[in-house]
Amino acid sequence: MKIRNAKKRDKKIISNLYYQLHPVEEKENREKGLLIPIEKSKIKPIFLVVEENKRVVGFVWAHLIQYGFFKYGTIDEFFIKKEFRGKGAGSNLLKKAIEKLEKLNPKIILVCTQKENKEAIKLYQRVGFELGKLGKRNLWLYWNPKKKPSK
Ligand SMILES: CC(C)(COP(=O)(O)OP(=O)(O)OC[C@H]1O[C@@H](n2cnc3c(N)ncnc32)[C@H](O)[C@@H]1OP(=O)(O)O)[C@@H](O)C(=O)NCCC(=O)NCCS
Repeated sequence: MKIRNAKKRDKKIISNLYYQLHPVEEKENREKGLLIPIEKSKIKPIFLVVEENKRVVGFVWAHLIQYGFFKYGTIDEFFIKKEFRGKGAGSNLLKKAIEKLEKLNPKIILVCTQKENKEAIKLYQRVGFELGKLGKRNLWLYWNPKKKPSK
């Protein structure tokens, strides 16, 4: 057995394997005879801050991850300084990050939080995230761009 980096010439066989791995989701691309663009992989950061009286009091750090034909967004870090919470800063910041991600056409936006973090979970649900997988310590939530929340 030998492990090596994939090369462009592997594209056809990788595409075959990939379509076996995702037969339903990738049906359309397979039927069109498309090869998986293995060279297409990138991460675009979205970094926003919120200011109060010209002082930064919070930030959100999100990413658009693209590989092959698939694109998804992640909300990775999200924080508002304690004394500025409960006034809508977090919601507005999160909504702006989603708006920016949405322009990049992700299939889904994911966020993971500790399951005890009721405040954050409630906020995520309020802006349109739905409850996803519950782990031992964490809870995944997802936001489906096709199911726009009512504002
Ligand atoms: C999660 C977090 C970013 C939310 O920030 P925030 O600025 O307090 O968020 P908001 O003010 O938009 O919303 C919080 C609550 O205040 C309420 N609120 C919104 N606008 C308000 C206003 N003008 N006046 C009073 N309350 C308001 C919201 O209704 C919300 O309550 P609800 O969830 O019961 O509906 C912040 O609590 C935080 O930094 N927590 C620690 C880090 C963290 O947990 N990050 C997420 C990890 S994944």
